Amino acid sequence: MSALTGPHPRIIVAAALALLAAALGLLAAVPPARAQSTGMIGAATLKAADGGEIYHRICQGCHMPNGQGAKGAGTYPALAGDRALASSQFMAVTILDGRRNMPAFGKDRGGGFFFATPSLTDEQIAAVINYVRTHFGNHYKDRITAAEVEALNHAH
Ligand code: HEC
Repeated sequence: MSALTGPHPRIIVAAALALLAAALGLLAAVPPARAQSTGMIGAATLKAADGGEIYHRICQGCHMPNGQGAKGAGTYPALAGDRALASSQFMAVTILDGRRNMPAFGKDRGGGFFFATPSLTDEQIAAVINYVRTHFGNHYKDRITAAEVEALNHAH
């Protein structure tokens, strides 16, 4: 079989590029801070609903200790000065259901990501939302309750 009858070189190049793109897509979803991991843990081992502890044990791995976010293999939005936080419902849905490269943390969720994602109770989600909205330079006065988070949880 002569080289001329084999697959056209352009097809091979295109296939290689497609594989590369797929690999990069996977990389983009890996948290940037796994090396400085703060220890992903199950919700059961977290104290009832301490928003600060939940943030620093779970969220800061991607959003960084001061909520400044990160850019590297992927983009992890800053939560400091993030106008989207004006809506605690938006935050609740993001945490419950996940959003693109952010995993879901709602109860009966979790797990289906690149690492074992802990699932959080409605109380814990409310606590971490109230924590983030009053830290890192955020000064929102309204609080979300566990009942409001529960109402937004479509997983059950
Ligand atoms: C594995 C990494 C990761 C973890 C852990 C994580 N997030 Fe995220 N988060 C992301 C990514 C990536 C996005 C951007 C999603 C997108 O593409 O819109 C995001 C988006 C958000 C947004 C929306 C910001 C905006 O302006 O659109 C909020 C709010 C948020 N995360 C809060 C949290 C909280 C609170 C926790 C902890 C319970 C947390 N995240 C844990 C990766 C993560």
